[in-house]
Amino acid sequence: MDKELNVLKQETLNAIGKLADNKKLNELYLDIFGQSGKFTNLTKKLKTLSASEKPQIGRLLNEVKKELETAFEKHKSIIRNFKLAEWIDVTASGSGPSTGHLHIVSQAIAEITEIFERIGFTRMRYPEIDWDWYSFESLNMPVNHPARDDFETFFIDLPSNPKLGKVVLSPHTSSGQVREMERVKKPPIRMINIAKCYRPNWDISHTPMFHQFEGLVIDKNINITHLKGTFDYFAKEFFGKERKIRLRPFHFQFTEPSFEVDITCGICSGRGCRFCKDGWLELGGSGMVHPNVLRAGNIDPDVYTGYAFGWGVERTYMMKQGLKIDDLRLLYSNDIRFLEQF
Ligand code: DAH
Repeated sequence: MDKELNVLKQETLNAIGKLADNKKLNELYLDIFGQSGKFTNLTKKLKTLSASEKPQIGRLLNEVKKELETAFEKHKSIIRNFKLAEWIDVTASGSGPSTGHLHIVSQAIAEITEIFERIGFTRMRYPEIDWDWYSFESLNMPVNHPARDDFETFFIDLPSNPKLGKVVLSPHTSSGQVREMERVKKPPIRMINIAKCYRPNWDISHTPMFHQFEGLVIDKNINITHLKGTFDYFAKEFFGKERKIRLRPFHFQFTEPSFEVDITCGICSGRGCRFCKDGWLELGGSGMVHPNVLRAGNIDPDVYTGYAFGWGVERTYMMKQGLKIDDLRLLYSNDIRFLEQF
């Protein structure tokens, strides 16, 4: 009987391997394991065997049964997968790997650079870690001057230089002004310095690292009309044709006269709304370069004049989008759900 069993096993395994649909597979299953199936019939014969044969044949029956049932199950899943594979629509467009994009601040920097380059400005970068001299002293802000309090500063734990003072994380891009004068030596200068700045503030509207863009123009006969014309041009290019700017008197140590520059609100077109209150949004500081700053850069203030401005990249970009990001720190938290929106 063990021979018969082995023959049945082999034949059944061969038959299973040839089948390509479930209906046939079920038929075969019944043909083997059904009420009068081939295997069932063999088990019926067990009774007729002698007591000495029974245990061994019984074990064999169990083994063959297990093996065949596993083969049926396996083949069922082979047929299923084959069917699924058959249904793949090879003409459907694929889903490619998702690609990233530039961070919003990088996008803004690229756009700002391009606008100023069109009117002859050159993009410069100056050190993020700088001397007190370039960050403050050369900008007409001596060590004990109270105006320095507006520029809370990270100091680096390094020895001071007798001439240049302490080492600081540059708190504004204005520290590139005198460096640019030293690089160019003789005006004209038309620089746009865009860089990271650092101040120890950490709340919903401040991050300790942020970006500014700083313009510096120095030549003979430069006056406030050039400053105003440049801002008008930038505002229209960056924010849109209908936007207007205004200058508000202010005070900075490194400019005289100094102004805060405002732009009409993009949401209410200057009429006043919840976002802006009185129709105007503050862009940032500007003014005519102070003669002491020109002198610090070895430029004769009796021959040359200039204007400068320094505005925050993050702030300016949000004003363009009419965005009020509840927490500015989101910009630098690397949360893909936030970044993907821009
Ligand atoms: N450095 C100033 C700040 O960080 C901004 C500024 C004001 C820059 C007036 C200038 C300027 O060039 O003329 O707040």
